[in-house]
Amino acid sequence: MYIINESSDYEKLSRFFFDNGLETETGIERPDNVIKCWECIDSKNSKIIGGASLENRNGEFVVADMAVDIGYRKEKLGTKLMNMLEEEIMKMGGDEAWLVGKTPVFYLKLGWEIVARNQAPEISKCFICSKFGNECNPEIMHKVITENKQTERNRRGQL
Ligand SMILES: CC(C)(COP(=O)(O)OP(=O)(O)OC[C@H]1O[C@@H](n2cnc3c(N)ncnc32)[C@H](O)[C@@H]1OP(=O)(O)O)[C@@H](O)C(=O)NCCC(=O)NCCS
Repeated sequence: MYIINESSDYEKLSRFFFDNGLETETGIERPDNVIKCWECIDSKNSKIIGGASLENRNGEFVVADMAVDIGYRKEKLGTKLMNMLEEEIMKMGGDEAWLVGKTPVFYLKLGWEIVARNQAPEISKCFICSKFGNECNPEIMHKVITENKQTERNRRGQL
């Protein structure tokens, strides 16, 4: 059993992201552009087993961090966190979101689409990172959150 809470301890959560392979900066105060962040806690031992954060980057909703502890992967916890994020974005009035996906297949399965870099807004610093192109090959990804809007965008050929 686990519970997902909004996190009040950004430092601890950012350490969790870092330890799970993300490039999240640790040991800093919560950046101003973090809209919300969540932690998933194993009720048995109070350990953080998953987490996610949502940022505002250049006016866009961006899923900035998303990780599940290695011992708890492939049990749909990542899917639950992503579904929750989308609901939160809708509650905030958003109808689309972006992310930079290191594991594109996971996001493709959840309905996200890969977008060419030159067609995406400025939401990523990955392309100037020293890891880019060798140990890390992320994709810019996009999802229209509201079904009706997706249909409308597809019809207009925008995505
Ligand atoms: C990516 C991550 C969050 C997925 O979490 P998870 O709880 O294991 O994912 P789920 O169990 O909800 O998986 C949903 C589906 O995606 C697939 N999937 C999950 N991770 C995958 C990966 N790394 N590569 C390919 N497919 C993946 C699962 O097999 C599952 O497929 P199915 O529906 O056909 O069974 C987790 O692997 C992780 O924390 N990785 C390290 C950090 C990271 O890379 N985060 C993403 C940064 S952009």
